[in-house]
Amino acid sequence: MPEAPPPSGGPLKGLTIRDLKWDDLDAIVETYYALYDERDRGEPIGIHLFAERPSRSDEVGWFTSLYRRVLANDSVVAVADVGGRAVGHCTISTVGLEHGSETDHVGLLGIVIGEAYRGRGVGRALMVGALERARGRFEIVLLDVFSNNHRARHLYEQLGFRVRGSLPFHAKRRGEYFDADEMWLDLRTWQPPTANG
Ligand SMILES: CC(C)(COP(=O)(O)OP(=O)(O)OC[C@H]1O[C@@H](n2cnc3c(N)ncnc32)[C@H](O)[C@@H]1OP(=O)(O)O)[C@@H](O)C(=O)NCCC(=O)NCCS
Repeated sequence: MPEAPPPSGGPLKGLTIRDLKWDDLDAIVETYYALYDERDRGEPIGIHLFAERPSRSDEVGWFTSLYRRVLANDSVVAVADVGGRAVGHCTISTVGLEHGSETDHVGLLGIVIGEAYRGRGVGRALMVGALERARGRFEIVLLDVFSNNHRARHLYEQLGFRVRGSLPFHAKRRGEYFDADEMWLDLRTWQPPTANG
């Protein structure tokens, strides 16, 4: 069932941040697929995608693997829920493939929110929820962000992430290159923002 857009503007009513559920599969895949539609419309989506939209079977495989990683404590996921539906999710996952490697304390963060729900504080609430869940599991959190993804950069900086370096020509979309910045956060000393910021 396609996502019904919320009334626009103002604070978002009924937002909760919760753990991942198996039933989130459809909503999460739908949100992900919508990024390809945005890209096709020429929107400057600041997240790297595949050249072609992955198949439903690929997505079920990806979700199953994510779910397994959560159960194995190799991934932490926070879900933004509005009215019982996942409208965004944030994952923090080990960077190494092998459990128990010497980089096991480092988590790589990714976040996506459905287009209709952006710019209303969901990303901030979701990031805080994910980082709070990740404390005690990960010590360092890394992410990479397209240098022109100003909204995401602003959000990450606001939460204490710092730029570690630049990744020139990081992504190539239909012949156009995009630089990215690698950012990091020390979760050992991180404090959630107060209500005043
Ligand atoms: C990036 C993303 C996760 C942010 O979530 P969001 O719910 O839209 O963000 P929020 O509303 O919580 O906060 C955005 C902040 O950026 C600010 N902002 C919005 N547009 C901005 C812009 N063009 N430049 C700078 N800051 C901007 C907002 O004012 C807000 O800051 P404030 O709290 O100081 O007012 C979301 O937009 C998204 O999913 N985008 C598509 C996928 C993506 O880019 N993922 C990140 C990949 S690294």
